[in-house]
Amino acid sequence: MARVALLLAVLSVMGLMAVHAEDPYLYFTWNVTYGTISPLGVPQQVILIDGQFPGPNINCSSNNNIVINLFNYLDQPFLLSWNGIQHRKNSWQDGMPGTNCPILPGQNFTYHWQPKDQIGSYFYFPSLALHKAAGGFGGLRVNSRLLIPVPFDPPADDFTVLVGDWYTKNHNVLRRLLDSGRSINRPAGVLINGKSGENDKEPLFTMEAGKTYRYRICNVGLKTSLNFRIQSHTLKLVEIDGSHTVQNVYDSLDVHVGQCYSVLVAADQPVGDYYIVASTRFMKTVQTATAVIRYVGSSTPPSPVLPEAPVGWAWSLNQWRSFRWNLTASAARPNPQGSYHYGSINITRTIKLANSRFPADGKLRFALNGVSHVDPETPLKLAEYFNASDAVFKYNLIADEPPTAGAPLTVAPNVLTAEFRTFIEIVFENPEKSIQSYHLDGYSFFPVGMGPGKWTPESRKGYNLLDAVSRHTIQVYPGSWTAIMLTFDNAGMWNLRSEIWERHYLGQQLYISVVSPARSLRDEYNMPDNAFRCGAVVGLPLPPLYV
Ligand SMILES: *[C@@H]1O[C@H](CO)[C@@H](O)[C@H](O)[C@H]1NC(C)=O
Ligand SMILES: *[C@@H]1O[C@H](CO)[C@@H](O)[C@H](O)[C@H]1NC(C)=O
Ligand SMILES: *[C@@H]1O[C@H](CO)[C@@H](O)[C@H](O)[C@H]1NC(C)=O
Ligand SMILES: *[C@@H]1O[C@H](CO)[C@@H](O)[C@H](O)[C@H]1NC(C)=O
Ligand SMILES: *[C@@H]1O[C@H](CO)[C@@H](O)[C@H](O)[C@H]1NC(C)=O
Ligand SMILES: *[C@@H]1O[C@H](CO)[C@@H](O)[C@H](O)[C@H]1NC(C)=O
Repeated sequence: MARVALLLAVLSVMGLMAVHAEDPYLYFTWNVTYGTISPLGVPQQVILIDGQFPGPNINCSSNNNIVINLFNYLDQPFLLSWNGIQHRKNSWQDGMPGTNCPILPGQNFTYHWQPKDQIGSYFYFPSLALHKAAGGFGGLRVNSRLLIPVPFDPPADDFTVLVGDWYTKNHNVLRRLLDSGRSINRPAGVLINGKSGENDKEPLFTMEAGKTYRYRICNVGLKTSLNFRIQSHTLKLVEIDGSHTVQNVYDSLDVHVGQCYSVLVAADQPVGDYYIVASTRFMKTVQTATAVIRYVGSSTPPSPVLPEAPVGWAWSLNQWRSFRWNLTASAARPNPQGSYHYGSINITRTIKLANSRFPADGKLRFALNGVSHVDPETPLKLAEYFNASDAVFKYNLIADEPPTAGAPLTVAPNVLTAEFRTFIEIVFENPEKSIQSYHLDGYSFFPVGMGPGKWTPESRKGYNLLDAVSRHTIQVYPGSWTAIMLTFDNAGMWNLRSEIWERHYLGQQLYISVVSPARSLRDEYNMPDNAFRCGAVVGLPLPPLYV
């Protein structure tokens, strides 16, 4: 560390400092191990990162170099992925089975990535098997650099709140259920930062009366939308998935799986203890977790009367409609967010993706446009890089339209190509009865519209082409559609997935291959030296390096 600093000092004196090198480095060495804890009162095996459940928070600033040497002490292959980190030019660090060979038991792998031109609230999670059901996730916050204006006063403190549904069954048992065609069914409960609130009365956070705090709330669960609220306090929304929002005030927020929200909470109530509440949405039996927040000097326990949750879908849809991008606020760069006029860019392609389910090989498979994705042994990115894709997968098995009823259904790697730098509209159609939540790696996108029934070109008349909040994860209500727009300007192999984890595991995902025709370092990094090789690319000669 000292040597790097000295080198940087020398280089900067010489005025030679490369853009890549001037950003500070943060180093982490993390052991991944099993542990036993009882989040719902029953001892169970969980995955610890650096001995912790949830894992440690990463606290960094835009463009920092994050170097994480991850040691896998589990008995299974393992990977971490970074939900919402865009890895510009660098899908090599994305940590999905389509981009990285797994870290085998007893091995280690060093991730090196930068939250380039990003700010906001994210999380990391284990991407293989059903590891996410055992933990292995943690918070990830990207602070604004000094001198970049933030559209609110610095809060007195900054709290990470990871909420999620939770199962008491072992992750291997859950996986076997899915592998044998059954469902993981309903969760056993809900956790807030790894606790349900049943057996733990110690305060999660402490606030001083008169001060204002930032709460970053992410849904790290497997399948359930949650409503978040704080007894007697309002939530002033300031950020969604890395974008600054118009600062509306809410009593509660619906947080769908994979999404992150930042709110400011003023400690403006009588000194006392209060409950944070996270409860399940859209389920017959509501599950609830609580955590205590304590004002300094409080000796008053929280009122047992919890604030009520909203009911029904319409409330949730209307809340989404109220979210607005703050066009004059800055994000990671000094220029205002609204200077990117996405509404005036012409669409070059519309991709409609419909989810479906069908039985195959004794399992219930989930699909997008009739193809249920499976991960080949060779990561798609490596197969493409080594020009070995012919042996591993076929591009564009699906069309830009959902297949007609009765068309054949396929289980295969699902890889779409998108032309570099084109502006594309994606319409998610959800003909099923349960909510969907979709995440796209490598990008943020503008969710411009949502509505019940079938999308038609007429639906575009209702689009928000001015101030939709740019984000990385969006919900699609039952029997409804959601439309997003984005520019595919980040070369790489990117996972587009259902965040509903049994659906993801059983095929409701695909990869989008974005190749820069220039094949230049300007657009994409070469495979890093420490990248593992596996499957069909073991022993192949390296392709010509990008320069
Ligand atoms: C990680 O595990 C190794 C091997 O058990 C041990 O030597 C090392 O101290 C551990 N590191 C941390 C940070 O716990
Ligand atoms: C996180 O980073 C910010 C900015 O560098 C710093 O002010 C803050 O104290 C850090 N917080 C924690 C919990 O480390
Ligand atoms: C594994 O860790 C060692 C340091 O302990 C490091 O030198 C090596 O590069 C790491 N391996 C990978 C593949 O990143
Ligand atoms: C938008 O951001 C600006 C900072 O550029 C801030 O002054 C303003 O209050 C914000 N507007 C709303 C409605 O939140
Ligand atoms: C978008 O398309 C319209 C009509 O199809 C055309 O007039 C306009 O020049 C295009 N704008 C851009 C920025 O290409
Ligand atoms: C890539 O592989 C194909 C055969 O699969 C071959 O025809 C082509 O020449 C190869 N391209 C390069 C650049 O090696």
